[in-house]
This record gives sequence, structure tokens and C-alpha cells, in this order.
Amino acid sequence: MTALRPVPRPGVLDIEAYVPGKSSAPGVAKVFKLSSNETPLGPSPRAIAAYKACAGNLEDYPDGSASELREAIGRSFGLDPERIVCGSGSDDLLHLLAHAYLVDGDEAIYTTHGFLIYPIVTLGVGAKPVVAPEKDLTADVDAILAAVTEKTKVVFLANPNNPTGTCLAFDEVKRLHRGLPGNVLLVLDAAYAEYVRRNDYEAGIELVATSDNVVMCRTFSKIHGLAALRLGWMFGPAHVVDAVNRIRGPFNITSPALAAGVAAIEDVEHQERSREHNTRWLDWLMAEIGKLGLKVTPSVANFVLIHFPQTKGRTAKEADAFLTARGLILRQTTAYKLPNALRLTVGTEEANRLVVAALKEFLARPA
Ligand SMILES: Cc1ncc(COP(=O)(O)O)c(C=O)c1O
Repeated sequence: MTALRPVPRPGVLDIEAYVPGKSSAPGVAKVFKLSSNETPLGPSPRAIAAYKACAGNLEDYPDGSASELREAIGRSFGLDPERIVCGSGSDDLLHLLAHAYLVDGDEAIYTTHGFLIYPIVTLGVGAKPVVAPEKDLTADVDAILAAVTEKTKVVFLANPNNPTGTCLAFDEVKRLHRGLPGNVLLVLDAAYAEYVRRNDYEAGIELVATSDNVVMCRTFSKIHGLAALRLGWMFGPAHVVDAVNRIRGPFNITSPALAAGVAAIEDVEHQERSREHNTRWLDWLMAEIGKLGLKVTPSVANFVLIHFPQTKGRTAKEADAFLTARGLILRQTTAYKLPNALRLTVGTEEANRLVVAALKEFLARPA
């Protein structure tokens, strides 16, 4: 008798499951987790209070339309709340967009070192992830456009990109959009937008507002410090918002997340403090690590990509072990096709200084 068993749709078993950054260092008393691009300042105290205030009403379903949160986001960015959808993290929205716009055999383009969720959501719906080469660890508009075929339905662009920390200027994003056929959805994933200080950068609001095939995804996990609550949002054309709303979970955001999200987006001072901390320490880390003789990819986000030599005793893998033994946890980037690098999230002053001191010690050892 043939043993029958359920078989997942084509593509699912080709997925390399996402491996989150490590969070522990066995045997080390004090651990600094610098592997997931979380904020060292934590969330706004007002967001924590709003979260706690929900404890008395856990029996009630949340507001499935997330109206208050969409209105608060709308007020802070000058956007029509009807054009906003909230998700359980921006990961949720990326999955929903793939579900809504890709079918078996379609193609979705992302870039060589692009965020790893893109191939996962693409394969998950039976579509084909197509990799467009980058230039200098930065998305290359010409290469993306060259990869477009009749089967292309979505282009995922993380801007800034994780794990490289590089970004495309708004003119380049506009050039990319101009070159895409109107039936291709351009997903601008701006998870780190708040940290960017370049004045030629725009997260995507203007392009979404003026076109029919662009969406911008944002997250509360980074500058707002609410990664544990899983909260993201997207701004898109009315027809895309309609499609996503039809397939999302009717209560996809919990009440504590909705309440904390409203408080977080309204606490502009806290965001400003987080941005200032990041600006100061991002620049410091890039300079100090550079002085040690390691190459650092110039970053506009809240993390830096550090490149290590392939010499025995000096490799990224060995550096990772050395740092982990001291409680300093960075992110390995082999899955991002960057086996000789480690990604370091900007941490507290204490963590940043410890990382630089430990790297100095690592490089000074006999190889
Ligand atoms: C580029 C990019 N997009 C999206 C996300 C996912 O964020 P969220 O926590 O909102 O799912 C991340 C998180 O690391 C990211 O780096």
C-alpha cells in the first residue's frame, strides 16, 4: 500500500527557513545582543504604559480595522488612513503582498544581498525568486530592470538594505519605477527609513502617492523599539490596500500592539533621541572599526557590515566566536552571501565601546 501524505505546494520545500540572529552566549554573564537591529534605547515609556493598560481587557478582540493606529500614522506622515494597512510586523505585509500578487510560475526580483524574507515569501506562493546583481553592495537599477521578464510581477527593494546598510537615492528609485511595466508591483521596504540622514533619500511616500504600482512598508520593530509586539504598516494605492485587506487576518494585530503603536508614533521626542543616539554611534563605530584596519561598508541605517580578511585567525567566523565568548553577539551574514562579514547593530555606548575594544584585541592576537 502506498503511504499517502500531504505534500506542500511546489516551492515550499525549497525555502531555507529564516534563521534569526543569535540571542545568547553560553556561559557569559552579561550579553549584548547586537544581532537583530533592535534599538538600544527601547520603546517610548508612553508605549510601554499603553501596552500595560491593555491587561484589563484581554478577553476582547482587537479593533480589526486598526483605525486609531492608521489615523495616528496618517497624522504623523500626512497620509490618508484609508491607504494604510497594518500588519503583524512588516513580514506579515510582505507575505500578504506575495499572496495577493504572485501565482505559480510568476517571478519576483530582489537583489543579491537583499533581505532574506523576499525569497521566502516568493517561494511560499510557488513563484520564482530572481536575483539581480548589486554593485558595491548596493542595489543596481539597471541590473534590476535587466532582470524583468513577462513573468515578473513584483520587485522587492529594501531601501536601506539589510544587511549591507546601503541605500538608493530617490532619483534612482524613481528611475527604477519608470523602467518597470505598470503591472509590476514595486515594494519599497523602508524598515530603516527613520535612521537615514541623506537628503537625496525618500522612503517612498511620494512615489506611492503618485503612482498605481508602488507600496511602501514600514515597521515599529526598529526605531520604535516594539519588535516583540510585531507591528508594521504599509502605504499603497487604494486597489492594493483593498486586495491586501481581503486576505489579511481579520484581527491580525493585537490590542496591546495597537495601543503601543499609537503611543510610539506620537512620541516624537523619543524617536528623536533614538535617531540622535544612532547618528552619533553609527559614525563612531564606522570610524573606529575602520581605524582597526577592517573594511566597513558605509551605512545609513542602525547597523554596520564589517568585512574580515580570509587569513586564518582573522576570519569573520573566528571573530564571531571571539566576540560571542565575550558576550558580544553579532549577526553572521553567510546566508546573505556575505560569508566574510559580520553585521553589528548600533548598541548602547557600553556595548559599542566593548565591541571595538574586543575587535582590537582579536586583531592583535597572533594569527
Ligand atoms: C529590510 C527589513 N524589512 C523588514 C523587516 C521585518 O521587520 P518586522 O519586524 O516589522 O517584521 C526587517 C527586520 O529585520 C528588515 O531588516
